[in-house]
Amino acid sequence: MVPRIPLLDGSSIPAIGLGLYKVPPEEAARVVADGIAAGYRLVDGAALYGNEAEMGAAVRASGLRDELQVVTKFWGDPVQSFDAALADFAASEARIGLDVIDGYMIHWPRAPRGTYVETWRALQTLRDEGRVRWIGVANFGIDELQRLADETGEWPAVNQVESHPWLPQRALRAFHAEHGIVTQAWSPLGRGRLLADPTIVAIAEEMDATPAQVVLRWHLQLGGAAVPKSLRAARLAENLAEIAPLDDAAMARIASLESGERTGTAPEDRP
Ligand SMILES: NC(=O)c1ccc[n+]([C@@H]2O[C@H](COP(=O)([O-])OP(=O)(O)OC[C@H]3O[C@@H](n4cnc5c(N)ncnc54)[C@H](OP(=O)(O)O)[C@@H]3O)[C@@H](O)[C@H]2O)c1
Repeated sequence: MVPRIPLLDGSSIPAIGLGLYKVPPEEAARVVADGIAAGYRLVDGAALYGNEAEMGAAVRASGLRDELQVVTKFWGDPVQSFDAALADFAASEARIGLDVIDGYMIHWPRAPRGTYVETWRALQTLRDEGRVRWIGVANFGIDELQRLADETGEWPAVNQVESHPWLPQRALRAFHAEHGIVTQAWSPLGRGRLLADPTIVAIAEEMDATPAQVVLRWHLQLGGAAVPKSLRAARLAENLAEIAPLDDAAMARIASLESGERTGTAPEDRP
């Protein structure tokens, strides 16, 4: 059973969801169906990923729509504005083909443009109209989160950021915890590269688990959520399987891996 993490509005999301970045559209319906069969109850889509229609079709075909959290994101390029967010949401909604989208996020703050607050107001409008259940952001830093709260009186439910043992995001996680924002890790497995790390491999061997299971267990023990991606049914199941808790010594060995290394784009490089 995948643990759930509470959101500020009193609802909750599964701590492990299925990432859909770089899942080709011709494979996406099969991957989502395999994921749902394995026990995933959150699918992490985005307009950018080019597979919203297949994600929606697989959710509709599953017969489990009411149990599932369907998430998508506003890309914000070339234009990030109130009107662009409403228009792009309408397009995502039409592609996905569901009456309501569970989670909608601003994909990047694009802080130099100075329009993320008005964009956040568009997401609030969509939520208030009942077209979205909860609203969140991705790749926001502390200053941007604080500005949303100061100017609109509302923290995002979720901030989805790159995080894994090389980049644990300690300060941001502490800020999130203080304000009830869920930390949801993207590239939680370091795009797969982290799984060859000798420390992770050694802990996995000692625990009779796999490297991916150790890393995902670390995310859960930090109190965060994660959206690992895999195209393969066996790995989808492996990544959801429960393992024994990591003891303090194992958590400390994993903490020692922090290097600040990113496997994806930094927010300041996506203006
Ligand atoms: N908000 C954002 O800006 C943002 C940015 C990037 C990603 N994301 C989200 O985060 C999700 C996950 O990130 P990601 O796809 O970049 O990286 P990831 O989940 O950390 O890693 C995926 C890679 O790991 C491999 N893998 C998965 N499970 C494995 C296992 N058990 N054993 C060995 N290898 C395994 C996958 O290969 P196979 O597929 O071949 O199994 C794939 O190459 C994305 O799909 C997307 O939903 C969001």
